[in-house]
Amino acid sequence: MRKLVIVTLTCAALVLAFVLPSLHAVDAPADMQIQVPAGGKATKAPVAFSHAKHKATECTKCHHKWDGKTAGADMKCSSKGCHDNMVSKKAGENSYYSAYHDMKAENSCLGCHKAMKKAGKPTGPNACNDCHPVKK
Ligand code: HEC
Ligand code: HEC
Ligand code: HEC
Repeated sequence: MRKLVIVTLTCAALVLAFVLPSLHAVDAPADMQIQVPAGGKATKAPVAFSHAKHKATECTKCHHKWDGKTAGADMKCSSKGCHDNMVSKKAGENSYYSAYHDMKAENSCLGCHKAMKKAGKPTGPNACNDCHPVKK
């Protein structure tokens, strides 16, 4: 009986120590296509994005308004009050464009890829057509 109790407690401790912390409250989606949301007009082809290829990056580096707990509007770049200005291309004007191309922001696609390339580290594409495949 005593042995059973010890085994049970050991198992419980192992579960708490290893299993629980690895359970994300929210899972990153599988490979996706990012495209212009309603209200905007697409001039380019949608962009492929892989969470798996970015797993070395903290979720909240990109999802910089996310509470880190539950998935909601705070995860979408174009949510109301975030990068919801579909017209401007300037950063600081909540522009949709800057969410992905602001060279000065380390959490935009281009900002991060350019900075890492400069630092000589392996990174993603920086040329327009490598992200936006030319429409046929
Ligand atoms: C690292 C990937 C990446 C690179 C490089 C990149 N973009 Fe983008 N771009 C995106 C993503 C992601 C979006 C948002 C998805 C969408 O709207 O298609 C986007 C959206 C856009 C949009 C607004 C949506 C549309 O269809 O009009 C324009 C315009 C645009 N990019 C132009 C460019 C130009 C010009 C370059 C080269 C200077 C460039 N992009 C380089 C990832 C990239
Ligand atoms: C390199 C940047 C980056 C990293 C790191 C990242 N994401 Fe994302 N994630 C994105 C982009 C970009 C989108 C598309 C956002 C949009 O559609 O406006 C997205 C979309 C999502 C969505 C769908 C949101 C929706 O409502 O459509 C979820 C959920 C999500 N990510 C979870 C995660 C989790 C969990 C992590 C960490 C394990 C993570 N992401 C790491 C860039 C990133
Ligand atoms: C904080 C830095 C960071 C941000 C932000 C970021 N990336 Fe990347 N990206 C990386 C790194 C690092 C790699 C190289 C990963 C590797 O080779 O293991 C990469 C690789 C890629 C690749 C190449 C994947 C392959 O098949 O080898 C693509 C495409 C890409 N990123 C697209 C995007 C798009 C689109 C966005 C914005 C929505 C984005 N990235 C935002 C750091 C970033």
